[in-house]
Amino acid sequence: MSEADELGDMLARAWRILCRSAGPGSDAALMAMATLSPDGWPEVRMVVLREAEPGAGQVATYIDLHSSKVESLRKSGRVAFTTWHPDERTQIRMAGNAGLIHGPETAARWAALTGAARLNYGQAPRPGAPIAAADAYAKTADPDSFAVLTCRIETMDVVDLAHPHRRALYSRSGDWAGQWLAP
Ligand SMILES: Cc1cc2nc3c(=O)[nH]c(=O)nc-3n(C[C@H](O)[C@H](O)[C@H](O)COP(=O)(O)O)c2cc1C
Repeated sequence: MSEADELGDMLARAWRILCRSAGPGSDAALMAMATLSPDGWPEVRMVVLREAEPGAGQVATYIDLHSSKVESLRKSGRVAFTTWHPDERTQIRMAGNAGLIHGPETAARWAALTGAARLNYGQAPRPGAPIAAADAYAKTADPDSFAVLTCRIETMDVVDLAHPHRRALYSRSGDWAGQWLAP
């Protein structure tokens, strides 16, 4: 197999992992999601991968529109995700530009959520607000607080820890051709 074919296979495998992990009934991959705070600090938190679109080179997660990360994204739309699939022994790192979808456009996704999942979107006071006691908040399912955070991927770094270790970097600007990197 040529180097180009092998690189293509590795990228296709990474997308298969992401697609299999996203959405209902999936492995529900957890991803670390990094943003830059309004004052320039790196921020990382866990989110669930909800959508993966190889054709568009895009992934998405669901968030509360009133959470602090939205303020960060309004200042800098650059976002990065890292996920690790233990069975495949594969790490996938993605960096790109964030988009926010909320309002009527999210109706179908909202309708597909379970009642319990909907409670993750809509909280008073808003996520991250100081409260007087640990339970001094109320959760309500609020479609107006529900948002889809998309990431239009610019670069994807894939590390395969099967023996021997392999690592490749793919970029939108390089038409996803890929470049082997020393792991
Ligand atoms: C296992 C796990 C899964 C989570 N999934 C999500 C998620 O899909 N979307 C989300 O916005 N927050 C999710 N969270 C909560 C975030 O990690 C974070 O605490 C919250 O979004 C507030 O982040 P922020 O203050 O940076 O906005 C998850 C937390 C854990 C521990």
